[in-house]
Amino acid sequence: MILYFSLGYILLSSCKSKNTFSHHADSYYAHEYMAVSAREEASKTGAAILEKGGNAFDAAVAMHFVLAVTYPQAGNIGGGGFMVAQPASEEPVALDFREQAPAKAHEKVYLDEAGNVIPGMSILGHKASGVPGSVMGMFEIHRRYGTMPWSDLIQPAIHFALHGFVLTEKDVTELQEVIEELDSINGPNIFTYKKWKAGDTLKQPELAETLKRIALFGPDDFYRGETARLIIEEMKKHDNWIDSIDLTNYKAVWRKPLKGNFYGYEIITMPPPSSGGIALLQILFMLEQWKIHTLPFQSLRYIVTVAEAEKLAYADRSKYLGDPDFIRVPTDSLLSKNYLNQRIQDYGTPTKVTPASSIQPGKIFGFESEETTHFSVVDNKGNAVSITTTINSAYGSRVIVKSAGFIMNNEMDDFAVKPGVKNQFGLIGGKANAINPGKRMVSSMTPTIVKENGKIKMIVGSPGGATIITTVLQQLLNVLIFKQGMQQSCNHPRFHHQWIPDFLYLEESWKEKQNLLDSLGIAGYTIKIRPPIGRVSAILRTHDNRWEAGADRRGDNAAAGR
Ligand code: GLY
Repeated sequence: MILYFSLGYILLSSCKSKNTFSHHADSYYAHEYMAVSAREEASKTGAAILEKGGNAFDAAVAMHFVLAVTYPQAGNIGGGGFMVAQPASEEPVALDFREQAPAKAHEKVYLDEAGNVIPGMSILGHKASGVPGSVMGMFEIHRRYGTMPWSDLIQPAIHFALHGFVLTEKDVTELQEVIEELDSINGPNIFTYKKWKAGDTLKQPELAETLKRIALFGPDDFYRGETARLIIEEMKKHDNWIDSIDLTNYKAVWRKPLKGNFYGYEIITMPPPSSGGIALLQILFMLEQWKIHTLPFQSLRYIVTVAEAEKLAYADRSKYLGDPDFIRVPTDSLLSKNYLNQRIQDYGTPTKVTPASSIQPGKIFGFESEETTHFSVVDNKGNAVSITTTINSAYGSRVIVKSAGFIMNNEMDDFAVKPGVKNQFGLIGGKANAINPGKRMVSSMTPTIVKENGKIKMIVGSPGGATIITTVLQQLLNVLIFKQGMQQSCNHPRFHHQWIPDFLYLEESWKEKQNLLDSLGIAGYTIKIRPPIGRVSAILRTHDNRWEAGADRRGDNAAAGR
């Protein structure tokens, strides 16, 4: 216990002494290394690991575990995610630690006898969960690239679980929204036994014990040991939804990242089972053909051009995206210049709005939550890491594994639970994303790295369910085409179109531009004003070779570095 406390404490105090921390500053710069995430504690931990000589992978592993404690609405050990990384002396890599459907899952598991979707079943409670991948993912990153002892990287998380972290206004608001469900599913629990206020310190002793076991035994504890036993025990009351075989069989998979070119920049992003990389590269290709750089930033023509490209990409997503270990995803075809040029030609020029009902997925020939969280890290050794991780909705399935203190994901809702029926993000899918045992559900998570002349230019990603892809897209456009700084880019109002439903979503602040909204309405869009879109954590290399943070003010995002 003393070891856990003191090591976590040393890491944190070494960071404090360097005055390396910025929270909601206008712009924050560092010269050597930087970590940006949804929580101050995680970013400080990342910077402290880098300060001690660890690399970006060490920092990322430590940050992931700290987020599991200090950002329980999305940080996790009960969920999964993706990493895109640029190791110093290797080709870029991608790691898929997405959840898998358990063996008991099947295509009709969320349907009643009449074949209708049972409301909420894929979102709330035990059967909403896929087999978690995060612990295996972190272990795999550490096995391949880590330089510091595994156990040391988990100490800061143990420290925050034992000694607590201070809840922010946003934490309390988000917790309030799920308090009844957390109570009804779990009975009295750590999140609901008192009415939490901003400024209170939340301690999680059961989670601390789980993290101590993971520090000692690695994934053996989570997938075969005591934590596995607690998960299995939790699932016993629910038809053994996840059992020991599901846990033992879980694997994280190294995949080849997708690469594309956009105005001379190299875009490195996540392949399937994420839809994010394919959609992002499709949209970027269309926007370059449509000469997006000639349009005034966030003008009527700019928004129409971007939104129409988004609609075409999301239509393809609905038909073709699935787990590449189960179906043949036509990645090469969907990204081929011939296919995209044909799609653009069929579409015409985006000077007018085409209703979603007139857009269909393209024809391929020769088939070859909203809560989630993203963090970005760069070190002074040439490594860059971009990780998006999730339990899907805020507080996932709301199931807290008894005596283990962590929340299970509700990622099963990212499958097409019935072809053509919308999931919680309004996204539809078909056969390619149907449920099968062991299969991974399609994701929108889009961890991305941009290079310029072979050097890291930008590390970027965001939460936001279906809006992840378009949030990442807008950071690339703002920075690469409109030459904005990283924080400036984060601060700009965002918009989003996903083909179906046929709405142009705009953040609240667009209401200040009533003339533009009127023009968008006249152009043919049905406008929906909605809560903030995305919470970006990004890093940009400036022209004078500094790192600039993008720590989104829509959340409590924070940067730390030196
Ligand atoms: N759970 C959100 C996503 O993976 O897209």
